Amino acid sequence: MKEVLELIQLRKEEFAKLPLFEYLQNENIDPRERVAWAPCFAPFAMNFKDLNAYALREEPTTDPIQEMINTHTYEDGQHWAWYLTDLERLNIDPSMRFTETLRFLWGDETKRTRYLCYELFAITLSQTDPLLKLAIIESIEVTGTVALAALAKLGQDLEEITNKHYRYFSARHLDVETGHVQGGLSYDDTDNFLQKLQLTEQQKKQAIEIVNRVFDSFTNCVIELMEYGQNHSFAQPFPKIHKSEILASAIA
Ligand SMILES: [Fe+2]
Repeated sequence: MKEVLELIQLRKEEFAKLPLFEYLQNENIDPRERVAWAPCFAPFAMNFKDLNAYALREEPTTDPIQEMINTHTYEDGQHWAWYLTDLERLNIDPSMRFTETLRFLWGDETKRTRYLCYELFAITLSQTDPLLKLAIIESIEVTGTVALAALAKLGQDLEEITNKHYRYFSARHLDVETGHVQGGLSYDDTDNFLQKLQLTEQQKKQAIEIVNRVFDSFTNCVIELMEYGQNHSFAQPFPKIHKSEILASAIA
């Protein structure tokens, strides 16, 4: 697994250079404007709950690695609730028609974020080998660490300006995301454990492909979030739906 972990670190360095992460922490921009991408993230924040429950978790198991993965899914599968809390506290919570909400969630503006979810499900559901599931989780966790470090700063800036506490966009979220699978061991013990895992040549080949696919999809999602953030504002965080568009698609 050592080589796989090295690749993850390499991809992490590249991932961390994406403009969104600098933008999230840019003190020259009002922190409320820096969070205007938040609606676009909804498909991932909510789907991640299902990924943990239905794709990564497998119960009952006698495999110690799958056991570790199961423990991890119970922690990480709950954070969607924090995302909702933050949207409420930020008042990014307008009343919308149900059909308008569906158009948004399955619309063009969120397509790469949805695709990331489909990719993660596709990679995970076809996986019965817990070692390869670990490669998926490790990649996700590392992208999470990069994003959450930037979000912790954004959350802090938001707290100062709004006098409210945030959960998803907070240092407390970063604290529970260690950057490794959370299987009940300390970061160092997990690190030692992972470094020593032996993979066959075939497993290594598959793990490398998995890592690259996960990072590629997260990269596309982060690029989309940045674009969304630039095309929307805190005052208008959802796309305006033009009546003519709805009419045109109804007629077509
Ligand atoms: Fe999380």
